[in-house]
Amino acid sequence: MKNTVITLQRQKEKKEKITMLTAYDYSMAKLMDAAGVNALLVGDSLGMVMLGYEDTLSVTMEDMIHHSRAVARGAKSALVVTDMPFMSYQVSVEEAVANAGRLVKEGRAQAVKLEGGEEVCPQITAITRASIPVMAHLGLTPQSVNAFGGFKAQGRSELAARKIIRSALAVEKAGAFALTLECVPEPLAALISSLLTIPTIGIGAGARCDGQVLVCQDMMGLYDGVAPKFAKRFGEVRQSVDSGITQYIDEVRRGVFPGPEHTFEIDDAVMESLTEEFGA
Ligand code: KIV
Repeated sequence: MKNTVITLQRQKEKKEKITMLTAYDYSMAKLMDAAGVNALLVGDSLGMVMLGYEDTLSVTMEDMIHHSRAVARGAKSALVVTDMPFMSYQVSVEEAVANAGRLVKEGRAQAVKLEGGEEVCPQITAITRASIPVMAHLGLTPQSVNAFGGFKAQGRSELAARKIIRSALAVEKAGAFALTLECVPEPLAALISSLLTIPTIGIGAGARCDGQVLVCQDMMGLYDGVAPKFAKRFGEVRQSVDSGITQYIDEVRRGVFPGPEHTFEIDDAVMESLTEEFGA
């Protein structure tokens, strides 16, 4: 059965933790889906971990659509949420609705995610009215990296914490079906999770959110950039990739690979006739 926004809502009501991971391609999405993750986020973090940019600002609608389609093909059960990239929703409500529509129609997303609080509430309401579920995102919103002066924890002063609480209540009122809370203190995330009826999905926001999300490359040990402190490693895929590639290079150089078991046969008589004609 395909998970929907209702599945996540029910999980919050039943106090069942929601699991979400980022995915950017078909094969990884398929593995995560088969393992039973509740939702896949086609995050604009793909700009950093898949495309090699230093932040998420250069990611385009075309990038998001391309990766979203691939993930959607691999997700039989998991809910697919796709990020709206920088400047695809900030300029106007009309553009936001049109771009959210493209992520659903062309990218096969079931929901979209956008960053921001009160200032994007008109967009959240309009996209929701177009029957596209919206996940909001508060705290460290990476598309605001230049305004924040870096990737830093947010909501640590009373003023900043109050602003995040106001924004959380506002995005819920505007129609968001869930809220990502990134890099905010755990007690603040816990308070917000108890104030909202929609599920909160934390990343660097402690264990008292309704669910968790991590960037796949960070949690599987695939990305060699600086990993944030909250990104616990659940795998060491890079080591195994490194050793596989090193062994491949070595075996090709030594003529050990491919072995007889990796090659195709041909009748001796055919080869004799070919050798007679062409020499060797
Ligand atoms: O783009 C992304 O991967 C995200 C997560 C960090 C929540 O937005």
